[in-house]
Amino acid sequence: MTSGALRERVARLREQLEQHNHRYYVLDDPLISDAEYDALFRELQQLESEHPELFAADSPTQRVGAAPLPEFATVFHRQPMLSLNNAFEDGEVAAFDRRVREAVGAEHIEYAVEPKFDGLAVSLVYEDGVLARGATRGDGYSGEDVTANLRTIRSIPLRLSGKAVPRVLEVRGEVLMLRSDFEQLNRRQAERGEKTFVNPRNAAAGSLRQLDSRITAARRLSFFAYGLGEVEPRPQLDSQTQVLDFIGKNGFKVARERDRVRGIPGLLGYYRRIGELRPELPYDIDGVVYKVDSLAWQQQLGYVSRAPRFAVAHKFPAEEATSVVLGIDVQVGRTGVLTPVARLQPVFVGGVTVTNATLHNLDQVRAKDVHEGDTVVVRRAGDVIPEVVRVVVDKRPAQVRRFEMPEQCPVCQSRVERIESEAAYRCTGGLYCPAQRKQALLHFASRRAMDIEGLGEKLVDQLVERDMVATPADLYDGGRLTAEKLAGLERMAAKSAENLVTAIDRSRRTTLARFIYALGIYHVGEEVAKILARHFGTLDALLAADWEELIAEKERLQKENVKRRAKGMQEEEPLLAGIGPEIMRSVANFFGQAHNLEVIDQLVRHGVSFAAEERSGGGVLSGKTLVLTGTLPGMSRDEAKARIEAAGGKVSGSVSKRTDYVVAGSEAGSKLEKARALGVPVIEESGLLDLLQSGAEK
Ligand code: IVH
Repeated sequence: MTSGALRERVARLREQLEQHNHRYYVLDDPLISDAEYDALFRELQQLESEHPELFAADSPTQRVGAAPLPEFATVFHRQPMLSLNNAFEDGEVAAFDRRVREAVGAEHIEYAVEPKFDGLAVSLVYEDGVLARGATRGDGYSGEDVTANLRTIRSIPLRLSGKAVPRVLEVRGEVLMLRSDFEQLNRRQAERGEKTFVNPRNAAAGSLRQLDSRITAARRLSFFAYGLGEVEPRPQLDSQTQVLDFIGKNGFKVARERDRVRGIPGLLGYYRRIGELRPELPYDIDGVVYKVDSLAWQQQLGYVSRAPRFAVAHKFPAEEATSVVLGIDVQVGRTGVLTPVARLQPVFVGGVTVTNATLHNLDQVRAKDVHEGDTVVVRRAGDVIPEVVRVVVDKRPAQVRRFEMPEQCPVCQSRVERIESEAAYRCTGGLYCPAQRKQALLHFASRRAMDIEGLGEKLVDQLVERDMVATPADLYDGGRLTAEKLAGLERMAAKSAENLVTAIDRSRRTTLARFIYALGIYHVGEEVAKILARHFGTLDALLAADWEELIAEKERLQKENVKRRAKGMQEEEPLLAGIGPEIMRSVANFFGQAHNLEVIDQLVRHGVSFAAEERSGGGVLSGKTLVLTGTLPGMSRDEAKARIEAAGGKVSGSVSKRTDYVVAGSEAGSKLEKARALGVPVIEESGLLDLLQSGAEK
């Protein structure tokens, strides 16, 4: 063959194959047999491999996938990919139509109506008619470049087939997996002993986000187009209906079930029609979409926040089914929260077999009145966790047992505490509980806690999963985490392993406040940790604290002060100001667990130690309480307070025996008298300045 003839033959084969592809995958109307198609395909493959100079990214042979990528590149959408507002009730649809009519001043509106595909939104950019880039929606502003994967989808044309193609054409739509392809895939996965997917949507998502596009090629995905993004130059199109016609002419699949209707009756009629058709559709949908047909009106209506005013998604109600509660289990989440979960007789709902449904929390169990043995209605919507909606009380067995939250964590046996303010129950074994390990380690290592640079999520996952580390104390256990062992982990070069060992070693020397914060005690953030550190001064003092007594004292003081306030009397000095009884109880529970104390003991034995608190002003007023009264000549009260605190001191609102100094300005009142009565030293602004400079002793 001459090179001219060769080129011509290759071009002809590519064109023919794309046409047959289109007939088969887009129009569902093949002209030739599979065998004939395969023969053409092999001929092209042969010619291309003999003549690599003829390579073309848009050749049908390129649909088989390419070598894996290290990661997906980020793509910024030239026009954001927004979302749709949802409507569930007919009334919401009527309100949408009314808003549209009022805004454009028309009596009746024509709508383009379409199924709402339950897949993944993607954007396809064609340059001079050739597929140049395809990306996921991501957060709407930027997504992932999945071009190589999208090329493997047969219903996506690699080259546009329209007559006059714009220089740039962005087509938007959904990637999904047909139900028949999904079932076939799951059968194949099961046969090979590989993981099966819960529904077509997850299968589509998992297949599209493969770094190895050869895997995507082996999964049958489909693409349905529903709109345009950037188009340059813009062809003359007046309505969404024309847009879809135009897209179809360029070789894309658009929903056969699309239609054009008028007014609310038209919309609701379409909703019912598609609802009835839903079980027979070849793909999953979760509702229908209504779009004002006129593009001029669409433009006039515009957008509010992240959704168009000219369109709405009318969703189908979540699917429900009944089942029987075989038991109520309690799961412990990574933050230690206990969640009651109903174990169910398997039931098919919302496209998957459900065996568990969340009961959220104890209040929900009580409100819904769920017991073991109850017949319940279960709901599953989209990708959300199935939940128990209500009990069919008529079917309750004669004898049922009331569900109670366990008093001990089902995972680590630590005590369970109730968090009043959140109606939640949580495990108090935070440092030790296997359910909370990853979370505890990540928090422990975080910058404001022990500040172990380089100990991030990926690493913690590996350390825990490989049983290299169970509690924070294991980090400092010399034999466990050597640079050598660390270097054996994924994404860990020898150099970073060494750096991590150094970072861990360096973190041993910390402050008491950071350490307390690092323990991850519920309710104990940095501020509370600082107050505790300041109050107790040493770890031993903190561990020796009698929390029952402290809580009782706190509550007594609080009550007393309510009375005093009512009588306009001087309030008593608060105990552990800034820490309420609920926080104190949480701290008490934490230190009440032998498991936690053991980990703390190990941490200290592995060399964790405390330096004096780091403070900008040098901490000369550390441990001192001052009271400000009257007007100071040279600084505002806020400034005085800030400077005292910067030096480690505390400013209190009332004078007591525990006050170290009263700083008095002009027109000082009762506080000054009280200070004199109690024998508390009184100083002026100049005295305060001296103190701040020298840190003079009381
Ligand atoms: S039009 C401004 N039409 O629904 C947004 N979206 O909530 C215009 N979706 O992620 C979107 N089927 O991918 C439109 N026929 C359809 C759709 C559809 C499914 C998805 C879309 C987006 C989400 C919007």
